[in-house]
Amino acid sequence: MEKVLVTRRISENALELIRNEGYELSVYSESRDLTPMELIKMCEGHAALLSVGPNKIDEHFLNSCKHLKGIALMSVGYDKVDVNAAIKQGMPISNTPDVLSEATADVAFLLMLSVARKAFYMHKTIERGEWGFFEPMKNLGQELYGKTLGVLGLGRIGLELAKKAKAAYGMEIVYHNRSKNQNAERLLDATYVSFDELLRQSDVLSVHVNLTKETTGMFNLTTFEKMKPNAIFINTARGAIHHEEDLITALQNKIIWGAGLDVTNPEPMDRNSPLLNMENVCVLPHIGSATEETREKMAVMAAQNIIKALKGERMPQVINPEMYQA
Ligand code: DGY
Repeated sequence: MEKVLVTRRISENALELIRNEGYELSVYSESRDLTPMELIKMCEGHAALLSVGPNKIDEHFLNSCKHLKGIALMSVGYDKVDVNAAIKQGMPISNTPDVLSEATADVAFLLMLSVARKAFYMHKTIERGEWGFFEPMKNLGQELYGKTLGVLGLGRIGLELAKKAKAAYGMEIVYHNRSKNQNAERLLDATYVSFDELLRQSDVLSVHVNLTKETTGMFNLTTFEKMKPNAIFINTARGAIHHEEDLITALQNKIIWGAGLDVTNPEPMDRNSPLLNMENVCVLPHIGSATEETREKMAVMAAQNIIKALKGERMPQVINPEMYQA
């Protein structure tokens, strides 16, 4: 009987789908990440890998695990995968797009509003016993009505956020992408702008691009300096897209107004990070897709992809379709 390695405990329904197709499962359930060598070792005797968490699927791994029929990631992001090496190796790899767009956009929206009203910091003041007498000029946030939302990467998640921002606050939508999103322009009257214009015009700038060589460190002191002093920076994509020390400098020096992060650099973040004590900053521990509904859909999608790979069929959410071209 062929075996599938699953690197974290996931939804029982998803595991059942795989079992029902006649495959055996090994589910790694320790509360720590596998080292690259441990992952390679564990893949021995398995025909496919359902990878959950930050496992590096690099050239070394792919060369060491040529026997796998396919790898299904339980994430939309695939920055830990060396896609070119996978193509060279003939290894089909899938991800879980679409099913997490709404949940992740919810977190971007939550952060946008929480930063604008200093919500996390205000909560902490109560815990510290600092809820004193009413001072009308204290604890003031900013409103979002009619402001401009800039979206870097207006794809599935960015579009969901833009829809919410437009519906809730009538926000103007500007965006920068590799290519124009005609659907968003029609639906939301969104305007395509250059990256520099995006920095210049956005009151809230939300990042929804993949982490690549080009996007690594894209938000640094130089870019923050081009943003408005009232700007709120939101990152729910990948922490390495912003330079964290530069973000701290930009906030400390009031170059930008605030930041909302669901992703940090590194993760987990240092609990002594100055970001955690700033009034206009809200940080969450990478929970964009963490709802019961979404994690269930992601697990089932990953399971369906693994089953296809094991049967030698095309994985529906393959990230390297070159694999299937004759
Ligand atoms: C994703 O799916 O890429 C989320 O960020 C979880 O890693």
